[in-house]
Amino acid sequence: MDATDPLYAQVAAHYRQAITAGTMPPGSRMPSVRTLMGLHRVSLSTALQACRLLESQGLLQARQRAGYFVRPPRPTRLARAAEPRQTQADPARFVGVHERISEILTRGIAARPEVNLSGACAHPSLYPTRALALHGQRLLRRRPEILGTQPDPQGLLGLRQALSRLALNAQIQLDPSQLVITHGCTEALSVALRAVTRPGDAVAVESPTYYGLLQLLESLGLRALEIPTSPHTGLSVEALEAAAAQEPRLKAVVVVPNLQNPLGAVMPDAAKQALLASCEARDLALIEDDTYALLCDTPQRAIKSWDTTGRVIFCSSLHKTLAPGMRVGWIAAGRWQPRVEILKYAQSRPNEMLGQAILAEFLAGGQIERHLRALRAKLATQREQMAEALSDELPTGTRLSMPPGGPSLWVELPEGLSSLALFDAALEKGVRLGPGLMYSNSDRFDNFIRINAGNPMDEAQRRAIATLGALCASMLRR
Ligand SMILES: Cc1ncc(COP(=O)(O)O)c(C=O)c1O
Repeated sequence: MDATDPLYAQVAAHYRQAITAGTMPPGSRMPSVRTLMGLHRVSLSTALQACRLLESQGLLQARQRAGYFVRPPRPTRLARAAEPRQTQADPARFVGVHERISEILTRGIAARPEVNLSGACAHPSLYPTRALALHGQRLLRRRPEILGTQPDPQGLLGLRQALSRLALNAQIQLDPSQLVITHGCTEALSVALRAVTRPGDAVAVESPTYYGLLQLLESLGLRALEIPTSPHTGLSVEALEAAAAQEPRLKAVVVVPNLQNPLGAVMPDAAKQALLASCEARDLALIEDDTYALLCDTPQRAIKSWDTTGRVIFCSSLHKTLAPGMRVGWIAAGRWQPRVEILKYAQSRPNEMLGQAILAEFLAGGQIERHLRALRAKLATQREQMAEALSDELPTGTRLSMPPGGPSLWVELPEGLSSLALFDAALEKGVRLGPGLMYSNSDRFDNFIRINAGNPMDEAQRRAIATLGALCASMLRR
């Protein structure tokens, strides 16, 4: 709670925290308006305003004459995402999707669509841009010399200290000297892969996976071993074990255990530990991509938190969680730390100072938790609204992942519908989406699309979903 907020917002923040932490589970009764007045010493209108704010954020629902209750997540009418059909990995292959991905990205950007459903970020209004800008203005006024000072190659110490504190959320203990600031998680993944592989080696990845990772593997001359991955419980450690036994040049596993992109899966703790044990037994580097973890509705442990031997290379970013415009990520590379430091230095030199200083001040100010709580609550509402719109418009047989956090929904269209054909047709009507073919070296996901629920639901978005529905219906009739 921030003492400068209006009183009703402070009261609402108190209960929002209890609801998101699970202290007040779905269905539980909110204290009555009279009780709130007595408990918080506020007026009737302040107590009511607090309840209405929580209701508008999708956290409470009013029942006539009974008061306010914590709203259960709305079940979607679409069937739950299915488990992957294949249980075994294909042999590791050189990635050949660069051209396909580049073409889809280039066409998507050039079309300047009216509605972009293809990203995996929240709307700019959901980030604390004013507070960040104020820190920037103050810094430039008070310390203009930072623009003329060589940055620390490892990154600003104040920022590394703040990120070490942030990592405590995932139960990771990190000394700031074990971190390097990078240009987003992309650079962290790139130096991690370069530290542990040589061209021609194989790297196990989730299937489907983030297309940027496939682009990286291709650019480094690495082969991708795509491991079947559940939309609910993430990477199959069993399938990894079987595939690893067949691939002598397997050197590393890249995994997104918390809110995998594009599936939104969260690996159970037992699976995270089993994966770490498997990497220990086979002497594989475990590259953990933590990009979305802070957007989980309930806090999740990182695999790094169980790492006692420095085997896990932890890569993260503030790009989705705090400041998409600032491109700040970091890496804690365990036993590969010295090599990663020099690779980062050789690849791009240190990150610029101003951005690091702004983020260090913001994080030190302690506002991050409040921002994250609000962002998670907004995303939860938007995911539900998007799921409702999809279930109203998309054809029978469509399935949907309902991830426990983050901005993305992974949608399985009925068999026979091609996401690439839908991408083309939708783009002509001013709507951009993420076709499933981008997320694998195989054609296995052509009837899947990824939809971004990061933007507040408005008429334009509803129309865009209706357009997708109409296009699917006409493609099915053909
Ligand atoms: C799983 C995953 N890892 C890494 C990235 C890239 O992160 P950054 O933008 O911080 O470079 C993304 C971006 O979409 C992602 O989805």
